[in-house]
Amino acid sequence: MNYRHIYHAGNFADVWKHLVLVALLDALKQKDKAFCYLDTHAGIGRYNLDAEQARKTAEADQGIGRLSQHTHLPELLQRYLQLVEQCRAEQPQSYPGSPWLAAMLRRPQDSLILNELHPEDQQQLTELFKGQRQVSLRREDAYQSLQACLPPTEKRGLVLIDPPFEQDNEFKKLAEAIQKAHKRWPTGCYAIWYPIKDRREVMQLHRRLTLSGIRKILLAELHVKAAEQGVFSGSGMLIINPPWQLQERLQPAGEWLRQTLGQDDQAKLVLEWLVPE
Ligand SMILES: C[S@@+](CC[C@H](N)C(=O)[O-])C[C@H]1O[C@@H](n2cnc3c(N)ncnc32)[C@H](O)[C@@H]1O
Repeated sequence: MNYRHIYHAGNFADVWKHLVLVALLDALKQKDKAFCYLDTHAGIGRYNLDAEQARKTAEADQGIGRLSQHTHLPELLQRYLQLVEQCRAEQPQSYPGSPWLAAMLRRPQDSLILNELHPEDQQQLTELFKGQRQVSLRREDAYQSLQACLPPTEKRGLVLIDPPFEQDNEFKKLAEAIQKAHKRWPTGCYAIWYPIKDRREVMQLHRRLTLSGIRKILLAELHVKAAEQGVFSGSGMLIINPPWQLQERLQPAGEWLRQTLGQDDQAKLVLEWLVPE
């Protein structure tokens, strides 16, 4: 396990992923009934962008760093940036990871399950959430935690699957894990992140899921530059069972991000059904 998210925190892919996450959590709060949020690859929860590792890659400069000084933003972006500001008020120069955002947005009745396998990262995550009610911390393989935690007792909620893609077979393992999880809990909402770097792998993931029989899969990709084999040119989220009107809420924010984070004239936003209802 060499991957450490601190090197990538706040980059263009994090911005897109976390914006989508905020929209999904907001949608869950439309009903009073409690929900469960499961983060299978949680990371450390909150990242210091001044840390040596983050400065070494400076990836945040092309992501969150390009968003701070704008006005007249689409509503969802404003909301996301307010949360980033809130995180910075807690710890200067920080950037919120997915667990931090979920913890900030959940209500007292909602529960969080945060799983992280890396021992040091899991330790930091535990420290950040120490003493918080309704938070359960796990340290096991992500795909095991999907099996162990689904379906949640609340019977409604969101699963974020955000692997590091450091193993060659991650795309294949991911597709298999999604199918198994969906069998255990077909009505849950799933948000699955992937990098757009190897187009063939991405196409195969799409094909596997299209053939899996799972319905209602929304594709949400933000490409910041022209696709080139082996170059990290964008990122995608597959959203199974998306909430009503998610696409409409993501569209203006995604379009704004395309214009602001785009690095050439091939930057594009893709928001469409991979598999409709
Ligand atoms: C992309 S990062 C997660 C970022 C986090 N979801 C966020 O948005 O703030 C992936 C994380 O998965 C962890 N990880 C790697 N292999 C894992 C596995 N098999 N099971 C669980 N976690 C794993 C890594 O240590 C890393 O912290």
